[in-house]
Amino acid sequence: MRYLIILLAFVACNTKEDVDLVVHNGTVYTVDSSFSVKQAFAVKDGKIIASGSNEEINSKFRGDSTVDLQGRFVYPGFIDAHAHFMGYGLSLETVNLLETQSWDEALKRIKPSATIAVSQKARELQARGEDVIGLGAGEPDFDTPDNVKQAAIKAIQDGKTKYTDVDGIPELKDAICAKFKRENGLIYKPSQVNVSPGGKPVIFNAFMATLNFGDEVVIPTPYWVSYPEMALICGATPVFAEAKASDNYKLKPEALEAAITPKTKWVLLNSPSNPSGAGYTKEELQGLADVLLRHPHVWILTDDMYEHLVFDGFKFWTIAQVEPRLYDRTLTMNGVSKAYSMTGWRIGYAAGPEALIKGMAKVMSQTTSNPCSVSQWAAVEALNGTQEYIKPNQELFKKRRDIVVSMLNQTEELVCPTPEGAFYVYPDCSKAMGKTSAGGKKLTNDEEFAAALLEEEKVAVVFGSAFG
Ligand SMILES: Cc1ncc(COP(=O)(O)O)c(C=O)c1O
Repeated sequence: MRYLIILLAFVACNTKEDVDLVVHNGTVYTVDSSFSVKQAFAVKDGKIIASGSNEEINSKFRGDSTVDLQGRFVYPGFIDAHAHFMGYGLSLETVNLLETQSWDEALKRIKPSATIAVSQKARELQARGEDVIGLGAGEPDFDTPDNVKQAAIKAIQDGKTKYTDVDGIPELKDAICAKFKRENGLIYKPSQVNVSPGGKPVIFNAFMATLNFGDEVVIPTPYWVSYPEMALICGATPVFAEAKASDNYKLKPEALEAAITPKTKWVLLNSPSNPSGAGYTKEELQGLADVLLRHPHVWILTDDMYEHLVFDGFKFWTIAQVEPRLYDRTLTMNGVSKAYSMTGWRIGYAAGPEALIKGMAKVMSQTTSNPCSVSQWAAVEALNGTQEYIKPNQELFKKRRDIVVSMLNQTEELVCPTPEGAFYVYPDCSKAMGKTSAGGKKLTNDEEFAAALLEEEKVAVVFGSAFG
């Protein structure tokens, strides 16, 4: 077994040679450089297999074939490394194993979205004429409200079809500030608002603007499939904090406390949650806020996408509203996709510290540019116009939830908690393990269960382990 260990520490006593390097796609260039990042990596067969402090990595992986590199992640595709050969007769060729840092390797770190894969599969089967019920994608089946469509048509007719300010038109930023004040009691200036092409890009832009290699992002499990992968693309390490089924999938303050380290950059909160539908009460959020107050280096990204999909009188709260002392380090994220049946229009938004918002705009200025101009005008109408269809939609989703939860719980093999919000259920199928499906398939895990459901009953669902 061959490990490379990239270490921060300059291990002078073991150094035989001392070289400054840039490694790109496995090619080593010798340069002069300076170093700043405090992180160590263990690399095996060209892959980063662990990261951590010098001590952790060194004690775990030190072996006969090791080399210490003082490394800094510079850019996807590049590592700026200062090599201190340890006296094991290693050559620069050994360092070529550092092809881990090439961009395609960054892609290899991540999985494709399981929810998108399931929806795609359901669409393919439907296109082949199969009568498939697709429950994979998180999207309301209602049409976009008419007033919103009309606003978009008007925007087209008025020629509002050009580039806009990169992170949103002033009219939409004003509408977002008004929404946060009206619905959440949060006061933001337009300069604290970001509009991105969907809620997903809001999170990605925030991560891209802030994460350094080795930073940690705390993600409660079960989680929306994109959180860890977006952290990984940006070079950070997802750290999972378990929200137990016995706690209705809500993170306890002790579990949050245990997950936070000096390397934590972000803690992600999502209420109501995808996939469990769990919604946090004001008191539950205060419990988490008390932990976060003790860790002033940690930023909070709260994904409030399902704010308007709550049932049984559940009152929605967001953390900066519950604990104003966290306002300065919270990014409050939301979007029009779910509340206004606008998934295809691609508008998400967030408000938070001005410096962060500026960083996100910088990322957008060199990547997506502005979100679709017409969609932005449609979103202005969604937020400023009538909200009267939100309640009936909630009622309908509640009826469906009640039917689904009750039917699932009638089966012997499934246990399904009742979600407070969103339009998901997260049933436990562990009692079905070891049994055989109607079509004769032995079921040993949730993925096989979901596959049998699709094959035999033509119902497309996402297997639970995709959510951690
Ligand atoms: C929890 C959560 N956040 C964000 C998003 C992304 O929203 P958008 O479609 O606006 O990118 C989704 C979509 O499923 C979601 O479930």
